[in-house]
Amino acid sequence: MSDIEQAPPGVDITVPSPARMYDYILGGTDNYEVDRTAVEAVRAKMPELEDAAWANRGFLQRSVRWLAEQGVRQFIDIGAGLPTMNNTHDAAQAVAPDARILYADNDPLVAVHANELLAGSSGTAFITADFRDPDGLLGHEETLAMIDFSEPVALLAVALTHFVPDDDDPWGLIRQYMERLVPGSYLALTSITSDRQVDESVGNLKRVYSRSSAGAFPRTRSEVERFFTGLEIVPPYEGAEAALTYVGMWGAEDPEAADSDGSRWGYCAVARKTG
Ligand SMILES: C[S@@+](CC[C@H](N)C(=O)[O-])C[C@H]1O[C@@H](n2cnc3c(N)ncnc32)[C@H](O)[C@@H]1O
Repeated sequence: MSDIEQAPPGVDITVPSPARMYDYILGGTDNYEVDRTAVEAVRAKMPELEDAAWANRGFLQRSVRWLAEQGVRQFIDIGAGLPTMNNTHDAAQAVAPDARILYADNDPLVAVHANELLAGSSGTAFITADFRDPDGLLGHEETLAMIDFSEPVALLAVALTHFVPDDDDPWGLIRQYMERLVPGSYLALTSITSDRQVDESVGNLKRVYSRSSAGAFPRTRSEVERFFTGLEIVPPYEGAEAALTYVGMWGAEDPEAADSDGSRWGYCAVARKTG
């Protein structure tokens, strides 16, 4: 069967999609020729692409487990992507079976996949929603049914904000979400960075993604730090200062060994809302 015959209604397979590209990088099958071609064009100037994606994915799993261990029982995972395994509910519910996870993404294929993946799993829901519409996302009936806003929530924005241009003010958007959450809530966020990367690799990545449905906007350390303004960053691993780190190192047993070339493409932190 050709790609066109396989594509669910509403899924445009003539333009690469970041969700489907990420799926392909991680070895999934929810992607099309146009996505695979785009990924290979990125990889041509960024051989550590797969390592970078797995390092980011590892952060998601370690940070969610840690948040559940701190007692967080509610998660809002925006830009969930939903690869086939080791998703937020797997990590959270392994620690706390009663943890509830609201997944949101704006990609139509993620919606199709989410409905299959989450069928029969308890404490999870998926909504098609755009990060840039906090009122629509937080006011969605599934959100209100799943999340108790009088209790702490972990907001996950993992590999999400770098698909949002400065003009859409991703910093202001994160602030709006965090304002709705009670003290004791957390923000876990990662972002691609161009710091210390070769211009040719960064330029190529931006060029390829500019032809996708989103575009990619790598950010500097201080730009990523701005997402955590007013929040209390937690130390990323034992003995570390409370600051941003590279994605592979967060929560790593051996941070030095986790400090790989791929990991250095992404900054991350987990931060607590104190007041
Ligand atoms: C690279 S994937 C990250 C998946 C997962 N969070 C992780 O880090 O493993 C980025 C996801 O963000 C989604 N996304 C991009 N822009 C978005 C937006 N404005 N609103 C909601 N989702 C968005 C994409 O569809 C994609 O599924």
